[in-house]
Amino acid sequence: LPTYRIAPSLLSADFARLGDELKAVIAGGADWIHFDVMDNHYVPNLTFGPMICQALKPHAKRADGTAVPIDVHLMVQPVDSLAAAFADAGADLISFHPEASSHVHRSVQAIKAKGCKAGLVFNPATPLDVLDWTIDDIDLILIMSVNPGFGGQSFIDSALRKIEQARKRIDASGRDIRLEVDGGIKIDNIRRVADAGADTFVAGSAIFGKPDYKAVIDAMRGALQA
Ligand code: DX5
Ligand code: ZN
Repeated sequence: LPTYRIAPSLLSADFARLGDELKAVIAGGADWIHFDVMDNHYVPNLTFGPMICQALKPHAKRADGTAVPIDVHLMVQPVDSLAAAFADAGADLISFHPEASSHVHRSVQAIKAKGCKAGLVFNPATPLDVLDWTIDDIDLILIMSVNPGFGGQSFIDSALRKIEQARKRIDASGRDIRLEVDGGIKIDNIRRVADAGADTFVAGSAIFGKPDYKAVIDAMRGALQA
């Protein structure tokens, strides 16, 4: 079995209690923390910036002191200035939408030069073609299974075919690249997403919409292992 990772999205957390929500979801077993950055320009919604990331960073650790990676999903245009700011704010992984960057290769290299892992994000209607020329440089592929901008949307089934294609490309590359999926992931569909080839799962409303975060994360792991 792959080493599956569950990445709760703080987008669906209670923003009035963001630090406590972070700690609660880590106590519940989060592998990564997914941090959705929206700019009301690339997507029609506005969330949080690097100052919030920096404030949360010291709390992104488990009881034994090990750090929980912060997985920043940039839904912003332009990309480079905010990518640099998030690297300085403690991001571990930074992913962006290739449509939002004028120079995708340059943006990837700039993220890696800051010591972060770099990812590319594919919207539901975006083909994987850009991977032809980037797969040797990136650490993560993020397949959107909803249109970016809002939590709580339904999973778009055509994403499954795209996940299969991305998995083939990763395996053919022979490189260590995470295949993450974002949008509409629930206890009852996570297994299908894994079977298509994903190894990393973002979940916002499925986790923060329930009172017991650990119960949801455990149930997701159970579905993956069944
Ligand atoms: C959408 C965000 C997702 C979102 C997922 O633009 O990128 O990370 O929070 O939320 P759910 O799991 O509720 O679809
Ligand atoms: Zn996201």
